[in-house]
Amino acid sequence: MPDVTIPAPPSDRIDGAVHDSHRHESAHKHVSGEAVYIDDLPEPAGLLHVCLGLSARAHARVVSMDLDKVRAAPGVVAVLTAADVPGENDIGAVGLHDEPMFATTLVQHVGQPLFAVAAETRAQARRAATLAELVYEDLPAVLSIAAARDGERKLVVTPMTLRIGDAAAALDRAPHRVSGRLAVGGQEHFYLESQIAMAVPGEDEEVLVHVSTQHPSEVQHIVAHVLDVPDGAVTVEVRRMGGGFGGKETQANLFAACAALVAKKTGRAAKLRPDRDDDFQITGKRHDFEIDYTVGFDGDGRIDGVDMLFAARAGYAADLSGPVTDRALFHADNGYHYADARLESLPLKTNTVSNTAFRGFGGPQGVVAAERLIDEIAFALGKDPLEIRKRNFYGTTDRNVTPYHQTVEDNILPELVAGLEESCGYWERRAAIRAHNSGSRILRKGLALTPVKFGISFTATQFNQAGALVHVYTDGSVQVNHGGTEMGQGLYTKVAQVVAEEFQIDIAHVRPTATNTGKVPNTSATAASSGSDLNGKAAQNAARAIKERLVAFAATHWNVAPQEVAFQRNHVRVGEREMSFASLIRAAYMARVQLSATGFYKTPKIHWDRAAGRGTPFYYFAYGAACSEVTVDTLTGEYVVDRVDILHDCGRSLNPVIDKGQIEGGFVQGMGWLTTEELWWDAAGRLRTHAPSTYKIPACGDRPKVFNVQLLENAPNREDTIFRSKAVGEPPFMLGVSVLHALSDAVASVADHRFCPRLDAPATPERVLTTIGALRERARQASPNQAGP
Ligand code: MTE
Ligand code: HPA
Ligand code: MOS
Repeated sequence: MPDVTIPAPPSDRIDGAVHDSHRHESAHKHVSGEAVYIDDLPEPAGLLHVCLGLSARAHARVVSMDLDKVRAAPGVVAVLTAADVPGENDIGAVGLHDEPMFATTLVQHVGQPLFAVAAETRAQARRAATLAELVYEDLPAVLSIAAARDGERKLVVTPMTLRIGDAAAALDRAPHRVSGRLAVGGQEHFYLESQIAMAVPGEDEEVLVHVSTQHPSEVQHIVAHVLDVPDGAVTVEVRRMGGGFGGKETQANLFAACAALVAKKTGRAAKLRPDRDDDFQITGKRHDFEIDYTVGFDGDGRIDGVDMLFAARAGYAADLSGPVTDRALFHADNGYHYADARLESLPLKTNTVSNTAFRGFGGPQGVVAAERLIDEIAFALGKDPLEIRKRNFYGTTDRNVTPYHQTVEDNILPELVAGLEESCGYWERRAAIRAHNSGSRILRKGLALTPVKFGISFTATQFNQAGALVHVYTDGSVQVNHGGTEMGQGLYTKVAQVVAEEFQIDIAHVRPTATNTGKVPNTSATAASSGSDLNGKAAQNAARAIKERLVAFAATHWNVAPQEVAFQRNHVRVGEREMSFASLIRAAYMARVQLSATGFYKTPKIHWDRAAGRGTPFYYFAYGAACSEVTVDTLTGEYVVDRVDILHDCGRSLNPVIDKGQIEGGFVQGMGWLTTEELWWDAAGRLRTHAPSTYKIPACGDRPKVFNVQLLENAPNREDTIFRSKAVGEPPFMLGVSVLHALSDAVASVADHRFCPRLDAPATPERVLTTIGALRERARQASPNQAGP
């Protein structure tokens, strides 16, 4: 088991100082069950329960929808359709208007909502929803990437192309060239707390919405739009989510808007919590991709030219497919220098649920493509993939311009990878595995060490801003509020540490309060891993504003120079005097000093011109590397992950134990995506893997048997981020790629590493077995007289 002991802070420091390992502010409540999620909130008297009526067809004209039996069902209080929406019948993200809240004459995917039924109990609402009588006229449905490419190629947004140098010319003159196609699957978020919203109607136009969302401001905006009331009439509050993982960046809009609509129509509070199977079918997932690639390289494995086309299944509407497919291109280099490259996205419209943000936000799909290129080169030249990786890393002073024309100024991958290579004993284990495999016919081992470089910032520059609100009360206790949301990642803890550090008071005196659009307005989604970067700085600015007032007050009041006022471990020194923080606050209050402040932050330096494909979209990069070892049963395709070693860069970590949790969780989630998690739609467009019985996320027993996670030491962020830390939420997800490559390595051994296995993802046991069969067949054809291994 990973080491979870939290070291005691040195005694001269406040409790919960920045850079100290301090437990998550809700950890004890998560384990005891006391943490309040939306469904745990006390239910207002007269609460109604809402259930959505869903389309059974992938693409059809709705000829008629008879809801009489739904209305007449026991306990039903209201049945609402598009006709009942006072404002715009749309819940689309970021101002796109292509996602009706309720479908009307056309349904575009199985599971699309058509109506809502509100009843006295949840069971009554669910039962009533099944009584709708719908007549459909089916239309041709485009379900897969392949079908979407074959047809008239409808796109949900304008694609992007990144160009640097001359890819075609470079490929022409390259001594070696390989082309292929990589398929990589989607992923269900499987947050433990499903989507949920509870709306409480207020006076006049007002409504309060408790909702599990990463983006309270957007929910506020969507609810206002649907109800046709000003944004100011809508308050959205979220104390915590039981996981979001990107699945609540936009996907909470529908549930919140629907609960709010019922509340305003009936005058009663309303709650909407879909059943897990419904949640699976209604909400978008990670985009699956098909990536066509050509890579040119020299005899040493140095990349000479790259051409890639990233076709993605966007689903029926745009949602975040534009920025997601953009980010796939931004990470199609992973940590490698492409002097000449052409990278193009193809966000295809399909009659499936509209795919959305998921940890890494398209980046993982880009990274998997980059690593496939490395594998192809290694197999073509008969070299170890790690050698090829190292040969192609970005330089520090040259070979350091990305395909989007940003210069990489902080590249630490060569040292970081060298460190891991050494500490995990890569080459000794490589030799040991070769020896093992030559003596083991059925059980084959594989090893792979893969790097990660991940760009930090929202690629849409305007989202890189944040606000905070800090109150100091007269007893010296502090409340901090900010626009970021807590989804388990530890943001509230980190921001509280920042405020504790600024005032030099124990973190127990700093209380984070629920994110609320009435406290901090116009916030961005907590996403792109930038929650602590943005909100940490905003809260620091707010705390510093109050501190400046306190210093000015103390200097005047006790007649000392401002430099003689110092905040030290729950005390304040004013010249020769020492007083508790609380007594200073009390004195400041008596002198009518304002003890509350807002703070604001916007990320410097960044800009992005999408049409030109040029700019500096990222403030900095976060780095990491993982080495995974697996054992594959070549008779069944089943496998175990024997050992994983990770070295990850968190800059100067704000909280090492929380960051370690993010690295472990991110890795395992990434591993699940590439191994056992498989989404499967039938020919009618119905998702048949919509519950844990058929959709397999990693379980406790699937975790690596040996799991060594280290944070890179003495590596402060070169940019002026909050206490020189680095974002950590998403980057470790891509460390899971090492498992795919370790599997590929084990599989390749059945044909003596002569052919690139081209193992697609998810590498389920079934796919591993098929790939083994194909490799053996290929080996037989290449040398028909040799008996296969
Ligand atoms: N960790 C937990 N426990 N639960 C989550 O839902 N979401 C991830 C990551 N880590 C998530 C998580 C995603 S997708 C992002 S973008 C970041 O956390 C968001 O939080 P941050 O910006 O504060 O790191
Ligand atoms: N990352 C995550 N979420 C986002 C982004 C991004 O770059 N842009 C818009 N939402
Ligand atoms: Mo994370 S996918 O940016 O919510």
